[in-house]
Amino acid sequence: MKKRIKTVILLIVALLLVSMLAGFAGNSEKTIKTGIIGAVDMEVDSLKREVRKAKTISIAGMEFCEGLLDGVDVVIVKCGVGKVNAGTCAQLLINVFGAKRIINTGVAGSLDASINIGDIVVSKDVVQHDFDLTPLGYAPGELVGIGSPSLPADANMRKSAVKAVRKSAPEVKVFEGRVCTGDQFISTTEQKNAIVAKFGGLCCEMEGGAIAQICHQNKIPFVIIRAISDKADGSAKMDYAKFEKDAAIRCAAITRYMISH
Ligand code: ADE
Repeated sequence: MKKRIKTVILLIVALLLVSMLAGFAGNSEKTIKTGIIGAVDMEVDSLKREVRKAKTISIAGMEFCEGLLDGVDVVIVKCGVGKVNAGTCAQLLINVFGAKRIINTGVAGSLDASINIGDIVVSKDVVQHDFDLTPLGYAPGELVGIGSPSLPADANMRKSAVKAVRKSAPEVKVFEGRVCTGDQFISTTEQKNAIVAKFGGLCCEMEGGAIAQICHQNKIPFVIIRAISDKADGSAKMDYAKFEKDAAIRCAAITRYMISH
């Protein structure tokens, strides 16, 4: 009889342990509902194709593809170009789809001579280079109410993103640093130099800063992963046309590796 009671107690303890461990696993990064935003089709199509149990919902002209990517709960969406589209999209991901973290994947122009076409930039932080209240005494890019131009990316997501590049594409160079966002395609050396003089930064694009601001306001972690498509100077227009597709696909593959490992 005593032996029986002992066995039952042991069984209960074992069950409790198993359910506790399952609970911890449930909180792991892989089961966090992840929003993935790209600005144009090329940046998300290769990911959307791999989604299982896919359900597509259209809101504000954006098609949100919800389902499982390598077993991970995701919502993948093309937001359209620019900050208004990107910010709206991030807020919809959070409110309507319950995204608990957001990855912004896509292409960017290089702001640094050592960063070349095809290289990857992972955001340490992001600024909006076109946000300017300096006539009112604010610092360049300073966001009202936030008190700084800089919105830091999540440390764990950054680490996973860098690891994803090193593991899945070891031949590709990866840089960590500042992403500069604005509603402008940067295509002259003058524009490029002006951004670098004010903010430093490794690359420029048109969505990351808005996504970061919405994430900050909702206390949601984010990271921006960008593959370089051009040098943000006089050659940008031609290089962008030539390299956008490969860079976008490379970045999407890295994003996929990141969330599934
Ligand atoms: N995305 C890719 N290249 C860019 C550039 N030169 N300026 C802004 N966004 C970009």
